[in-house]
Amino acid sequence: MPHTIVIFGASGDLTSRKLVPAIYNLMRCGKLPAETRIVGMSRTPLSDEQWRAMLEESTRTFAGESRFDAETWVAFAAGIHYQPGDIEVDADFASLKTRLAEIEGSGTATRVYYLATAPRFYKPAVEALGRHGMAEESRGARRIVVEKPFGTDLATAKQLNACLHSVFHESQVFRIDHYLGKESVQNLMVLRFANTIFEPVWDRRYIDHVQITVAEEVAVGRRGAYYDTAGVLRDMFQNHLLQLLMVTAMEAPAKYRSDTVRNEKVKVLDAIRVLAADEVAEASIRGQYVGYRHEPGVPTDSQTATFGGIRLEINNWRWQGVPFYLRSGKQMSCRTTQIVIGFRQPPLQLFSGGIPVHGEGNRLVIQIQPAEGIQLHFHTKVPGAGMRLRMTDLDFSYSEQFRDRLPEAYEPLLLDVMQGDASLFARADEVEKSWQIIDPFVDAWRDPAAPRIDLYEPGEWGPASSNRWMEAQGRSWFDICPVLS
Ligand SMILES: NC(=O)c1ccc[n+]([C@@H]2O[C@H](COP(=O)([O-])OP(=O)(O)OC[C@H]3O[C@@H](n4cnc5c(N)ncnc54)[C@H](OP(=O)(O)O)[C@@H]3O)[C@@H](O)[C@H]2O)c1
Repeated sequence: MPHTIVIFGASGDLTSRKLVPAIYNLMRCGKLPAETRIVGMSRTPLSDEQWRAMLEESTRTFAGESRFDAETWVAFAAGIHYQPGDIEVDADFASLKTRLAEIEGSGTATRVYYLATAPRFYKPAVEALGRHGMAEESRGARRIVVEKPFGTDLATAKQLNACLHSVFHESQVFRIDHYLGKESVQNLMVLRFANTIFEPVWDRRYIDHVQITVAEEVAVGRRGAYYDTAGVLRDMFQNHLLQLLMVTAMEAPAKYRSDTVRNEKVKVLDAIRVLAADEVAEASIRGQYVGYRHEPGVPTDSQTATFGGIRLEINNWRWQGVPFYLRSGKQMSCRTTQIVIGFRQPPLQLFSGGIPVHGEGNRLVIQIQPAEGIQLHFHTKVPGAGMRLRMTDLDFSYSEQFRDRLPEAYEPLLLDVMQGDASLFARADEVEKSWQIIDPFVDAWRDPAAPRIDLYEPGEWGPASSNRWMEAQGRSWFDICPVLS
């Protein structure tokens, strides 16, 4: 079955940096279905040839010069077409429809519409596709890919879902969170459900707490005006951090299918206690990096959090009493996304004179990016006299074990969309429940009566109050930058 990927936002950053290099790499590796075409639409007037030339240059850069092969590109570029058009002009969809019919001919084709454009265009694009009968499936499957943000709170997420559902069935909608395309995230499911040694200890009896961190070294840069309305909670927590939490905490589905996997993930969200406004202060900590208020587009008195830590409780048999700490920030010590499973201390402290080694239970560290791997931290005896202990680790690194290039997250995800597999995409109810959990934090942090925000210097792991907050709960953050091999 031929495929057509229709990209709205053809001249934009996401298209040139991620989407087209990913599709090109799929072709280079022989994974792209035969007869896959790309049709791009944006307002900039370009011919097919001009768009191909632009994409050739960006694909060389972003797919990697060493992976760029001129012969493959020629074959790939033959399937690239450009249709100038404005999402807000109805007649431009009529032209797009005609152009697609010319390109696809009389046969059937699976068509994927990719919204690689600003969120304010999602609604007009979906409505226009509906008006022009372009979601209708008599000539092949029709799917739509939506980039985050999926709304900015529960109310807007519901509006977006209602808009999507007015034209597409939920089974046609693919809400993309590129974290779920990472090998290491999918491997977390394999680690848990294809091995027998981890699952017996994966619960409240053995696990003290879980930490999930998405730390960025970068500042907000040119995104200041947008970022100040979003803050770290909307930017990172509703999507990436909760996705990682769901994969860490979910039960094993009976089958590995998109509906069964997503049902188990949603059950985790269902079990999370939604906090009342007056509970947020104790269950969270926020900060802002020094210099943020001088970023372009940011008000000089901004109270927006560029760092946040929150504690969630999952009220089910497996996790009752095990706090899940989620943390993210900009301008932090290093770039790392990692999940740390902190195990309980042994019941009897044989080797430390009975004194628990604070914060030094066993740890399983799952590194998502930029390092991709798993480390198990455990105590060993330091050689020599006496019983001195030291933490050492067993280390699995994806890049060392699998010398082949790890695919960029967009590659498997795009292939999944073409094949109709939605396992790694967010479902409507999942998105709405995520906002239900995050909204109370957003509201409480934005309350003018909230205390002034704590500051931190760029290069730190958030404000000093973040460490004090953890220490008050008898724990400490695991602040280690990954060593990349
Ligand atoms: N960039 C990334 O790495 C990245 C990563 C994750 C998610 N995202 C998400 O992806 C989406 C796109 O981001 P981006 O960084 O690619 O934005 P961008 O560089 O600003 O691109 C926006 C695209 O939309 C087109 N556009 C604007 N107004 C239009 C209209 N009225 N009709 C048709 N096309 C129009 C622009 O082209 P013309 O001006 O030629 O019309 C351009 O191609 C956003 O939702 C963002 O949150 C981006």
